[in-house]
Amino acid sequence: MSSDGPTYKMGSTGGQALVQEKKGEHTFEKLVLVHPTAKASCEIYLHGATVTSWKILDQELLYLSPTAAFAPGKAIRGGVPVVFPQFGPGPLPQHGFARNSLWTLGETKVVQATGDMSTELHLEDTEATRAVWPHAFRLTLTVVLKPTSLSMQLRVLNRNPEGGSAFSFTALLHTYLGVESIAKTRVFGLQHARFVDQLDGGAVKQQDSEAVTFPGEVDRKYLNVNLARVNDGGNCELMLKSTGFRDFVVWNPHVKKTAGFSDMPPEDWRKFVCVEAGVVQDPVELQPGQAWEGAQGLSIALLPEVQSQVAEKAMQKL
Ligand code: BG6
Repeated sequence: MSSDGPTYKMGSTGGQALVQEKKGEHTFEKLVLVHPTAKASCEIYLHGATVTSWKILDQELLYLSPTAAFAPGKAIRGGVPVVFPQFGPGPLPQHGFARNSLWTLGETKVVQATGDMSTELHLEDTEATRAVWPHAFRLTLTVVLKPTSLSMQLRVLNRNPEGGSAFSFTALLHTYLGVESIAKTRVFGLQHARFVDQLDGGAVKQQDSEAVTFPGEVDRKYLNVNLARVNDGGNCELMLKSTGFRDFVVWNPHVKKTAGFSDMPPEDWRKFVCVEAGVVQDPVELQPGQAWEGAQGLSIALLPEVQSQVAEKAMQKL
């Protein structure tokens, strides 16, 4: 990585920097946010508005493929690419064009009292998007970094003129969570939920067991859910909460599918699980002038048993 930045000032206690990276023939820009009062940071590429790193206490919580393709027109494999206006295959390229498009950077605000940082990225229709999807739209991704959480809100505005056409879309925050080992990873909170099994011809099933496990490839759309917990056998759990988004996709490609990826090492399916908030089953329809919002919050918490051990140790020291 070669860095020509920072363009913005990064103070020793945190701040923001717009860093330029040369990857092969192309230069990419990423915004680095460092929380001024807590050990938390994140990185967001303008390419796809892809959050590629989220760290707490220097610990990386997202997975980014070491062989991810950084090239115009290609999605970054890992982090949190934004899927819009189409989830999965369909008339548009797989997962739509937002994850392959160059977004523009808005303002970063810092809440004085807490140091929490909030930044906005925007994407509007261009000639290229209108050629494949004939609509005027504006997307705003708002990323908020707090000491133990990272939230992302996607706002979709139909900018077609009054009397123009409505549009419908599906969307997803395609979140690659880093895990210690997929074999030990459990996703809780989805018991009794209905899901569409994308590996079984779209059959609708019910999650009977308490936890989703990953003995093989898993590719499911869980319907009408807004809360999940991811436990990879470590001391912390990652909590995912959503509003506006109705569904979660839970995905891990396992050995065979990963072998077909040119942008991921063959063993790396062991290192992540995708738990992704989205509207992926029933599309959202927006009239001209209307807007829709969906958000997901990721936060980490020490497991209760670890918390009590920490508290016990602290008491012993008193
Ligand atoms: C998931 C889908 O969201 O994304 C899977 O449910 C898909 O079916 C996966 O394989 C990865 O897609 P892509 O286009 O990034 O390889």
